[in-house]
Amino acid sequence: MTVKEPIVLKDLPKDLDSNRLPKHIAVIMDGNGRWAKRRGRPRIMGHQRGVDTLKDLLRCCRDWGISALTAYAFSTENWGRPLEEVDFLMTLFERVLRRELQEMMAENVKIRFVGNLDVLSPSLQSEIFRAMADTENNTGVQFTVATNYGGRQEIVEGCRAIAQQVQQGLLKLEDINESIFEGYLYTKGIPDPDLLIRTSGEMRISNFLLWQLAYAEIYVTPTLWPDFDRHCLHKALLDYQQRERRFGKVGKT
Ligand code: IPE
Ligand code: IPE
Ligand code: MG
Repeated sequence: MTVKEPIVLKDLPKDLDSNRLPKHIAVIMDGNGRWAKRRGRPRIMGHQRGVDTLKDLLRCCRDWGISALTAYAFSTENWGRPLEEVDFLMTLFERVLRRELQEMMAENVKIRFVGNLDVLSPSLQSEIFRAMADTENNTGVQFTVATNYGGRQEIVEGCRAIAQQVQQGLLKLEDINESIFEGYLYTKGIPDPDLLIRTSGEMRISNFLLWQLAYAEIYVTPTLWPDFDRHCLHKALLDYQQRERRFGKVGKT
């Protein structure tokens, strides 16, 4: 007897319009700690399960034709957590990267890390740079991981770099505009997200992509991150497709 694999929502659900999907989804993966707590388990269990959620979401983007996914993995503020949790997360990132690189290559994923990477441990940095270099020419989903990322820090760093260019006479003050400025952000070359999803019900941005989210549609779900599966993404996309993105102009109705 052959056992049938329960492939859930492998293809784009019929009630979604393939022409109106977001090209780029950003996710604030929140609620891992609460997920674990509800089960009487340590918070780190939630982080571990959260990795599986992210892996399937990345696959789902490929299956459904969404070309870019950005995930908030660690904020500049998350250093304020207990040392054991921070250590666990850093080790988890390193372990997952090492374990998944081959599969990401096979699936043609192009991975990029954004954030202040210089202060991460040398071993994590080397996994990060290896993964970015190995997948650089891949043409599948553009997967961006925000690690030690802070939106304010990104903007300040960008300003500093621009000021330096002006000081050295390489850039004219009057030439600075929005598109030049974007070239100084960590996300240079990545189009802005169309949809921001935050799990666990919190209605805030928590210093994520402050510049890039200017016109993103925001979707908040009470579902905790480890439980955010393809059905939840389906719901988020249905909601997104109901929205009228006006970008400051006058609407259709
Ligand atoms: C998000 O889950 C993961 C990270 C911030 C690394 P949390 O760890 O914030 O989970 P809650 O919000 O405490 O439930
Ligand atoms: C945001 O979640 C950061 C990440 C998901 C990596 P937090 O749990 O740190 O955010 P706050 O503290 O609730 O704003
Ligand atoms: Mg949280």
